[in-house]
Amino acid sequence: MIETESFQIEGLAGERRLEGQLIVKGAKNAALKALAASLLFKDGFEIHNVPAIEDIARTIELLRDLGVVITAAGPAVFTLKTDRVENYRLNPEISKRLRASIVLTGPLLARLGRVAFPYPGGCVIGKRPIDIFLEGFTALGATIHETGTDYELRAPQGLIGAELFLKTPSVTATETFLMAGVLANGRTVIKNAALEPEIESVGQWLKKSGAKIEGLGTPTITIIGSELLSGANIAYTTLPDRIEAGSFLILAALLGKDIEIKACEPNHLDALLHLLRLAGVKFEIGRQTIRLCGDQPTFTAVDVKTHEYPGFPTDLQAPLAVFLTQARGQSFIFETIFEGRLGYLETLARFGGNTRILDAHRAIIEGPLPLIGREVESPDLRAGLAYILAALVAAGESIVHNVYCIDRGYERIDERLKAVGAPIRRAA
Ligand code: EPU
Repeated sequence: MIETESFQIEGLAGERRLEGQLIVKGAKNAALKALAASLLFKDGFEIHNVPAIEDIARTIELLRDLGVVITAAGPAVFTLKTDRVENYRLNPEISKRLRASIVLTGPLLARLGRVAFPYPGGCVIGKRPIDIFLEGFTALGATIHETGTDYELRAPQGLIGAELFLKTPSVTATETFLMAGVLANGRTVIKNAALEPEIESVGQWLKKSGAKIEGLGTPTITIIGSELLSGANIAYTTLPDRIEAGSFLILAALLGKDIEIKACEPNHLDALLHLLRLAGVKFEIGRQTIRLCGDQPTFTAVDVKTHEYPGFPTDLQAPLAVFLTQARGQSFIFETIFEGRLGYLETLARFGGNTRILDAHRAIIEGPLPLIGREVESPDLRAGLAYILAALVAAGESIVHNVYCIDRGYERIDERLKAVGAPIRRAA
């Protein structure tokens, strides 16, 4: 991992030249949580289809530090041994940089009766408070000790099941309490739970491993606490990354001559597919494939409002904005999940897009306008990917700095895009 790397991209000036197959990797936001769930197991398990990305590497480091033994067992496969988890303190340097680290607090507190962690970091996409976590842990019987920027939670007699109402259906809070509930005493009910498919996928695997969980995929999840789980014979296979698949689909809509997106789950992309259809994009959906050919009409503007699943994912908002710069008419973006996730539109304007930020949640894009290559700095994972798309659509050369940010969530994106004809290369 070299933090000074950049991508050099020779833009295609809107020409549909990309051709071939893009194979979707396992979902970052599921694999990270399955790894966190290792703390619920007395023995260990195998995890498959793990994307080779920086956030996974950091999470593995965090878990090793806690005593989990993790070995690479083949391409995209790891074996975890969890019989010696003794450290209750999350490595502060790693946790501070990784929002997903917060999910470790639930199973760790439930298992050891204690957890210490710094305020978690991650992509800078607006305020990312942890009040829902602290309120929930208190309801589950933990005491909170705050020392400057660190927290220590204690429940020496174990957590006690409780009814938790999430004021917002937070993805990581749902996962954290789901895992805490698996080892808590008695019954935990999570109301207004998030519905994202990654939660259901990990939850179903925990059930197969012995956890007593009802209501996955609904807003009310009930967990009856039990002993540590056993994963001896039950591997977790990471479901396809719907955000990566959606980003590929947008790229194919913009520049595809004939692109097949493989190993994806089209059912998890309903909101994007619906919007793209409205905009005029033509594609064919197979069981685990989506195919786009070059004979596309001029796209028309569409309005997008981000929403918790099954609504339009906030993580696809920036890639979609690049598409909207190439659609005819005025599109309205309403980002309802995070404030601070529209800043990248100023950079998109530097590429030549007609973008206007109205306030922290709303923006307008007027298209179509040709884009021009620029030198830019990736501010976060999803906006970074959007800059790659903009640079490919543009005429002339672009340089995207801070590639580490993009490597956090997309495996070798440069090599995979190059394989379908994208003129992108990594430079030190
Ligand atoms: N919120 C609170 N208090 C809390 C926690 C969250 O007010 O204690 C608010 C947030 O400020 C936000 C809303 O709840 O307005 C929803 O945020 P959520 O907690 O659902 O986000 P998250 O769990 O931190 C996960 C993904 C994000 C993705 C969001 C929304 C992981 C590790 N991260 O974040 O993924 O954008 O859900 O779907 O699962 C990414 O992959 O690039 C990424 C940022």
